[in-house]
Amino acid sequence: MEVKEHIEWLRKELDRHNYNYYVLNAPEISDQEFDRMMRELQDLEAAHPEFDDPDSPTKRVGSDLNQEFVQVPHRYPMLSLANTYNKQEVEDFYERVRTGLEGEPFEICCEMKYDGLSISLTYENGRLARAVTRGDGVRGDDVTENVKTIRCIPLRLRQGTDYPEDFEIRGEILMPWASFEALNREREEREEPLFANPRNAASGTLKSKNSAVVASRKLDAYLYYLLGEGIPGDGHYENLQKAREWGFKISEGMKKVSSLQGIYDFIDYWDEERKNLPVATDGIVLKVNSLRQQRALGYTAKNPRWAIAYKFQAERARTRLDAVTFQVGRTGAVTPVANMEPVQLAGTVVRRATLHNADVMAQLDLHIGDMVYVEKGGEIIPKIVGVDTGARGVETGPRAEFATHCPECGTALVRYEGEAAWYCPNDTACPPQIKGRIEHFISRRAMDIDSLGPETVDEYFRRGLIHDVADLYDIRVEQINGEDGTREKSAKKIVQSIAESTKVSFERVVFALGIRFVGEIAAKALARHFKSMDALAAASLDELLQINGIGMVIAESVIRYFHDEANLRIVDRLRAKGVAMELSEDELSRHSDKLAGQSIVVSGVFSLHSRDEYKAMIEQNGGKNVGSISSKTAFVLAGANMGPAKLEKANKLGIPVISEEEFLKRIES
Ligand code: IVH
Repeated sequence: MEVKEHIEWLRKELDRHNYNYYVLNAPEISDQEFDRMMRELQDLEAAHPEFDDPDSPTKRVGSDLNQEFVQVPHRYPMLSLANTYNKQEVEDFYERVRTGLEGEPFEICCEMKYDGLSISLTYENGRLARAVTRGDGVRGDDVTENVKTIRCIPLRLRQGTDYPEDFEIRGEILMPWASFEALNREREEREEPLFANPRNAASGTLKSKNSAVVASRKLDAYLYYLLGEGIPGDGHYENLQKAREWGFKISEGMKKVSSLQGIYDFIDYWDEERKNLPVATDGIVLKVNSLRQQRALGYTAKNPRWAIAYKFQAERARTRLDAVTFQVGRTGAVTPVANMEPVQLAGTVVRRATLHNADVMAQLDLHIGDMVYVEKGGEIIPKIVGVDTGARGVETGPRAEFATHCPECGTALVRYEGEAAWYCPNDTACPPQIKGRIEHFISRRAMDIDSLGPETVDEYFRRGLIHDVADLYDIRVEQINGEDGTREKSAKKIVQSIAESTKVSFERVVFALGIRFVGEIAAKALARHFKSMDALAAASLDELLQINGIGMVIAESVIRYFHDEANLRIVDRLRAKGVAMELSEDELSRHSDKLAGQSIVVSGVFSLHSRDEYKAMIEQNGGKNVGSISSKTAFVLAGANMGPAKLEKANKLGIPVISEEEFLKRIES
C-alpha cells in the first residue's frame, strides 16, 4: 500500500473505532491496539506533513492538559525534536549544522532518547519550586505534588554546589520496565485495563489526583536539558555533568563526538545495548554541544535546528508458531491469538501475539510450525508481522484456519455484514458473553454496583448464583457470606449496594441493559424520547429512526432486543425488583428544549457546579456536548483556565464564549 493510502486507511479505521467505543459502546479492538494504530498514524503524519489533514483523528488527541490540575505557562516553550529514521537523514542534519555554522568546528553530544513523559522542573534557591508537564508546549499542568514523590528528583539541591539561583531543568519521567510489568500484573489480577506501555503508565500515574498512588508506582526520571540565566558554561555536556553534582540523575550514556562516524558508532552501540537498560528508550538524541553555536543555529517554528532525534527500528524476534487459539470477548467477537515458543523481545518474554481478525490471519497465510517474525512497537501486545516462508519444510503443519465454532460454547460463528470480526451469536448462554453483560450492568456508569467486580461476578457465575443481570437482585447474604460467616460484612455490603442500585436513573438503566450498539449517549436519547421502558419496548423502527443520533444500526438492535422473549423476562424481573423503568417526576420536570439542536463545548474549571453537572444540564435542556470547537459549535461554556488554543479558535470562528453565570441564566429564563 502507498503511504498516502495507508494514512487514509488508518484515519478511517481510527474514526470508526472511536465511534464504536464512544458512541456505540461496542469496541472491536483493545485499547492497546487502538493506541498502536494512533501512534502509527502520528508517526506517519509527522514523517509526511504533505498529507496533513486538519480533521485527522490524531488532532483529537490534543495535549496532555488535564483540567483537574492548575495550568501554568512555560517560561520557555517546550519544543519537540524533529525525527530521523535512517543514517542518511542523520548525515543531512550533520551537513545542515556544518553549513549553518559556516565551517566552524563543532561537537555533537549524543544521548539516549528516553521514551517517557517530558517534564520541566524549576529550582529557586536550590529548592524544587514547580514541576510542569509539557501540555501544549506553551502551558502545562502543575504536577509538583506528584513529582515530589519521585525519589530520584531532588527537592533540595546538594549543599555546597554552585547551582544558579533560578533555573529550569527538563527531562523525562519514566516507569522502569520492572515496575511497569509488576503494575500490569496487579491490574490483570484485578481485571483492570492494562497500560499499553511504560510511557502510558507513567503518564497515567503522573496525572493521578492522589499523590500517594504516584508514590507507590516507583517512577524514575532522567534530566537532559538545562535552561535559564546564569547556567554554568557554554558546553551542554559539561553543564549536565555539573547538574549531576547538584543532585540530578543524568544519563551515564552520553558522549561527545566530533565526526559523523562517531555518531554512527554511538547509534550502533546503543541500538543493542539499550536492551539492557531498565527503562524504555526509543532512539538517540543528537545535540550541538556549544550553547553559543546552538543560539547561532536557532529554531524553526517547531524544532531547534541544533538538535535532532534518531528513532530506532521496532524490535523484532523470530520464533515458532505452535498454535492459534481463539478468545471470545464480551460482545461475542472472536479474536485469534498466536501461541508461540517463548522468545525474548524488547525486555520481556513473548509467548502470545494478537492476530486481530480473520482477514489479518488469512493475509499472513500462517501454518502451524511456521517460523514467524514478532514485533513490539513500544506496545505490550506484540504482533506477528511476517512469516519466514523459506523455513517451511516437511514438518510444517497445516494452514492455520479461523475457528468455525465458538471455543467457549461450541456455537457456529457468524459474520455480520461490513464487520471484520466473527461473532458467537449465542449471547444468552455463552459464558464470557453472560459475564461480560453482567460486568457491564454493574459498571460505574451503568448501575454502579461498586462492591462487585469481575472476579466476584466470575465466582457467582461459576457457583450458579447468577445467569443474568436480574439474578443479582435475588442474591441473599447467606449465599455469599462464606462457609463460616467470615465474609458476612462484605456479603451484607454487596447485597445492600445491589439493592441501592434500584435508585439509579432510568437513563442509566437503559444503558445498563447492554443492548448492542446502545452506548451512553444513545441510551440517554432513547430514555428521554420514550420516557418509559414500555414505550421504548413498543417503539417502531420509524419512530426510533426519528430520534437525533439514532441510526439504522442502533434502531435495529433495539428492535431485536425487545423482540427477544428472554430479554423481556429480564426487564420484567428488574421491574419487579424496583429498578427504574421510567423517567422520574424530577427528571421529567428538569427537562426543556432551550438548547435543542445546539452543540456546546464545555472547557475550563468551574466554581458553581462541576463540569459533569454542566454537561448533564446541557443534555437535559436538549443540547449536545461536543469535545472540540468547530464552526457548528453554538457556544463555549468557559470556566477558569480555559486552554489558550481553544480560546483562540473560538475567537477565530466567532463562536461566543460564555461564563457559568450567564449559562445558568440562559437555562433558567
Ligand atoms: S532535548 C529543545 N533530550 O523527546 C529540545 N529530549 O521530541 C528539548 N526526549 O519532547 C528536548 N530524551 O520529551 C531531549 N535526551 C533527550 C531526550 C528528549 C527524550 C523527549 C522529550 C522531547 C521529545 C522530542
